[in-house]
Amino acid sequence: KMIKYYKETASTQTAVKKLALKNFGEGVVVIAEKQTKGYGRIKRVWNSNAGGLWFSMLLKPVIRPDGSSILSLLFSIALSRILEKKYGISSEIKWPNDILICGKKVAGIIIEMSAEQDIINWVAAGIGVNINNSLPEDLKNISISIKEVLKREIDRTEFIVAFLTEFESLYFNFQSGGFKQFLEEYNSKVAYKDVLVTVDSACNDAITGKNFGIDESGRLIIETKNKIEKIISGTLRRAE
Ligand code: BTN
Repeated sequence: KMIKYYKETASTQTAVKKLALKNFGEGVVVIAEKQTKGYGRIKRVWNSNAGGLWFSMLLKPVIRPDGSSILSLLFSIALSRILEKKYGISSEIKWPNDILICGKKVAGIIIEMSAEQDIINWVAAGIGVNINNSLPEDLKNISISIKEVLKREIDRTEFIVAFLTEFESLYFNFQSGGFKQFLEEYNSKVAYKDVLVTVDSACNDAITGKNFGIDESGRLIIETKNKIEKIISGTLRRAE
């Protein structure tokens, strides 16, 4: 599998999408030391200074396009496993795909895809992990780096190798057996479980209710005053 490395690029996400259009195959990874136009979900700017781990991966999963959001859950599980297994750090997953340590964001995932009718052409998955990078003042109360947690710098190559190995087997098991096998693990790590949360979404009104975790299609189950809602996508926060 190919790994493309940049000292600096606009965004590894943009770079991997270009490779997708040139028909590169599944498993291609693009890494950059620094991104000048790193971005996150809902067009947010993603701080991508030197010292972090910024990479994107091309996937061609044989699933229906409407199931593609499940992929970000798989990435979250792989990240959370590595934090635990390799570094002894316990983390939570803020649905769908923010990894939190002590309530602060250490990693984010973005999934973009191209599909026609019921066929996925490709998926570009972008992952940003705050590792040895220092965070700007305005992010310090909501974000955290692994260096801050462990009080030492960690080897980013070791991190990504462990991550890619973990993800590969997870992805393989997902393709053969579906998401159900990971449901319990994901739910055991869900942040703000059983408490009141609000889910904001671009198309619908915000929904507030008790957070029950996800169902086997990756939808978030929220119990509002009157009913059970199953939410496909949105941004979660603790209710005020
Ligand atoms: C989010 O939390 O909203 C997702 C953040 C994803 C950031 C990564 S860094 C590597 C890749 N390149 C980008 O421009 N974004 C993703």
